[in-house]
Amino acid sequence: MQNKIICLGIESTAHTLGVGIVESNGNILANIRDSYIPPYGKGIHPAEAARHHALKMKETIQKALKQAGIKLKDVNLIAFAQGPGMGPCLRTGAVAARTLALTLNKPLVGVNHLVAHIELGKLVTGATDPVVLIVSGGTTALATLTGNRYRILGETLDIAIGNCFDRFAREVGLHDPKHPWPGPMFDKVASKGTKYIELPYIVKGMDLSFSGLLTAALKKVKEGYKVEDVAYSLQETALAMITEVTERALAHTGKNELLLTGGFTRNMRLQNMLKTMVKDRDAKLHVTPPEYATDNGVMIAWLGILAYTHGITTKIEDSYVKQRWRIEEVEVTWVKEKQ
Ligand SMILES: Nc1ncnc2c1ncn2[C@@H]1O[C@H](COP(=O)(O)OP(=O)(O)OP(=O)(O)O)[C@@H](O)[C@H]1O
Ligand SMILES: [Mg+2]
Repeated sequence: MQNKIICLGIESTAHTLGVGIVESNGNILANIRDSYIPPYGKGIHPAEAARHHALKMKETIQKALKQAGIKLKDVNLIAFAQGPGMGPCLRTGAVAARTLALTLNKPLVGVNHLVAHIELGKLVTGATDPVVLIVSGGTTALATLTGNRYRILGETLDIAIGNCFDRFAREVGLHDPKHPWPGPMFDKVASKGTKYIELPYIVKGMDLSFSGLLTAALKKVKEGYKVEDVAYSLQETALAMITEVTERALAHTGKNELLLTGGFTRNMRLQNMLKTMVKDRDAKLHVTPPEYATDNGVMIAWLGILAYTHGITTKIEDSYVKQRWRIEEVEVTWVKEKQ
């Protein structure tokens, strides 16, 4: 095997098209992202997002090569997010990855998007054997390595935390033209709330439910409560639920590292609640920096390298996309579990 491998990774599971270039020593050479922004007030239309990715694919790859200061011929390995995600979006990335692998005559690796979030989080924060909290628009899950699999310890039973706050913000008309997602605007409004309004707190064992909470919060706004107070109460309730199950996951596994990743990592109130919780337990919180916490191509390239250097490649005929690829289905061959 050559000394140094350079992997180009393509992320296209949802609204973000990402191309990352990483060396096998963990050196990150490029991280280029281009996101599909739905019309104001609307969610993501998968076919429209896929069209965006197809139109931007060539340009995004070229920008990544330029940022890395390399030519396409210098790439030794092609990785792509094979799932889970939206079918049309996944297929667009898969087509580009197959085309590159065949044209360049280089190996192809299809990787799991959630495992990729975890492995890049570990690389950039230095976490070794953490409980991982993945929070984004589409995911709210707690996972940890047990044996040779990342197991889900708890997850949302309905909508994800990012989606819950985004939908609240859209329904009550919060909009900041500078940001495609209502997240930052929601934070701003919630930080102005002063009165806590009682809302349903729904934790079922290690699992969470946010859709009843969202409905109850919207009802409070209709009843005439101040949007700031309801947003504040929604934030306090939902994030306390997440913090409670995360603490239980640390207690249950006996692990003392917590890794936070996913686009919702940017929510400062969540970071602060988790910080207080880990401090009380003498555990350490590792926060993935925003550019690597949100969907990106670097995480796909890095997991591509880990998988490839541990004997995994994906044949073209096996490179079909897996929209519902569960994290537990992935055999983790590249990590030695601590005894
Ligand atoms: N500053 C912020 N504070 C809080 N939340 C934010 C902030 N910025 C963005 N978000 C939220 O993060 C989410 C976007 O996360 P991300 O970029 O990982 O994309 P995603 O489509 O949600 O990812 P996935 O497909 O992995 O679920 C949105 O719900 C958005 O509102
Ligand atoms: Mg993601």
